[in-house]
Amino acid sequence: MGHPADPDPDTETETVVIEPGQLRSCLGRFATGVTVVSYAHDEQARGATVNAFSSVSLDPPLVLVSIARTAKACSLLENKPFVVNVLSARQIGVAMTFAGRPDDAAVIEWDHGRHAPRLRHTHAALECTPWRSYDGGDHVLYLGRVEDIAIRENEPLLFYGGSFHRRGDGLDVAGRSTRGCAPTALPLQVDAMEELTKEFVAGWI
Ligand SMILES: Cc1cc2nc3c(=O)[nH]c(=O)nc-3n(C[C@H](O)[C@H](O)[C@H](O)COP(=O)(O)O)c2cc1C
Repeated sequence: MGHPADPDPDTETETVVIEPGQLRSCLGRFATGVTVVSYAHDEQARGATVNAFSSVSLDPPLVLVSIARTAKACSLLENKPFVVNVLSARQIGVAMTFAGRPDDAAVIEWDHGRHAPRLRHTHAALECTPWRSYDGGDHVLYLGRVEDIAIRENEPLLFYGGSFHRRGDGLDVAGRSTRGCAPTALPLQVDAMEELTKEFVAGWI
């Protein structure tokens, strides 16, 4: 979708101009969860809604969030512990509130984490101490060392194509829906299982 710009006279290579709107649409094709990155400032709990969250390393345990330089969180997170609160499907109002669109109906309750304030009623939480930050163009990449985790048995909130979603069918390795499918109905294919495990681990890190 990008189109060639004038050749660079120094290198004589052709650069491709990517329109920001088209780039955003393309990136929106990558389904994500939704998090609120929370931290303390002036002894108050603060947060920013973030879907640019990624696992980075298992040893040491590191995760990454990408924060726009225009966000208040960007300067406030420098060398500060934070919590990545992975939202549940019932927390759209929370996501909107921390994206700068307060929702009066949203239930926003905090727990004292060991390092930073944690939201309640989430799907999962990762409490982090600051590790490194890197230049990410108009964003800053904050890496945190995971110090504590929590998971809950509820549904995750998903984000795809610019809107919120909840989880649909699981798929088996042949692409068939696993909804209502008894596990014993599937033949046990050890080779496929090993491949799946390798892919799973490679995809996770
Ligand atoms: C679903 C969703 C995902 C978002 N993801 C990000 C993100 O990854 N990084 C970012 O900097 N802002 C993201 N935003 C925008 C911020 O939440 C928004 O700019 C917010 O107002 C920042 O808060 P602050 O200025 O108080 O720090 C997202 C917003 C929404 C609704």
